[in-house]
Amino acid sequence: MRPLTGFVLPPDLPTLGLLEPLLSIPGYFEVTPETTWRLDDRSRLVENGFHALFREIGRAAARPFVAHGVGLSMGSTSASDVPRVRRWLSRLRRDQTLFRYLWFTDHAGLTMAGGRSLTLPLPVPMTHASVAAMRRRLASMQRIVPDVGVETTAHYFLFGPPLEEPAFYARVVAGARRWLLLDLHNVHTMSVNMGFDSWEYVSRLPLDKVIEIHVSGGVSSDGSWLPSGRSLRLDSHDDDVPDDVWRLLERVLPLCPNLRGVTLERMEGTVDVTTIPRLRRELRRIEKTIQRKAA
Ligand SMILES: [Fe+2]
Repeated sequence: MRPLTGFVLPPDLPTLGLLEPLLSIPGYFEVTPETTWRLDDRSRLVENGFHALFREIGRAAARPFVAHGVGLSMGSTSASDVPRVRRWLSRLRRDQTLFRYLWFTDHAGLTMAGGRSLTLPLPVPMTHASVAAMRRRLASMQRIVPDVGVETTAHYFLFGPPLEEPAFYARVVAGARRWLLLDLHNVHTMSVNMGFDSWEYVSRLPLDKVIEIHVSGGVSSDGSWLPSGRSLRLDSHDDDVPDDVWRLLERVLPLCPNLRGVTLERMEGTVDVTTIPRLRRELRRIEKTIQRKAA
């Protein structure tokens, strides 16, 4: 079956209002499950307003959902984190009866450390213990959604050579119905910041395990952020998809036999009326690229 084009549903009412004219284009919507929850006064995860709104958008457009989280903390090994993960997964189990997610992915790495929630995933050492931790997490996710995966996260440092990371991911996703979400902008971002060839990284991945591809854009950091004055490319999802990402998409598409979707990501609060025609062109370009390359 030919892969579909996907689009994120951002948890922000003004952004959703602006994106409304585009919502008939994608073949599925990507939802970050935790953006549809809030903690109540008894520390239970309950539905927030986006839970019903996203389901209504999916129903009105007759489109399915895929789940892509950021806060599950795939690489956590701390016993103190077990109750949080249980609560998270039990909430997801209830959601699955309503959203019927086609597949469920989260970022490789760590988003909880020492009981604190991190804004962005941190890398974990590329060790057997990290592989085992992420595989355990995938197994628990699979009891809710049968097809699960990890995303190739944009890290700003690594515990080892960047070109060893693809082999690390291959060990994490070995086994039936465990997949890779290949984020091409993340690869591009790391290649710019760390100085490696983006295609060499992509070609080392187990491409038969890629179920979904992400494309997006980003900007460079302000040089004044770092004492060195160095500017880094950011995986900020707030700008047009760069040429290198389009080139990577063209090249990798025919090599991913199990690919089911290519998702355009855009961060809430980074869209205005002038952005909408550009996002429409990007969604159409994904569709056309799929038609040409994956037919
Ligand atoms: Fe992504």
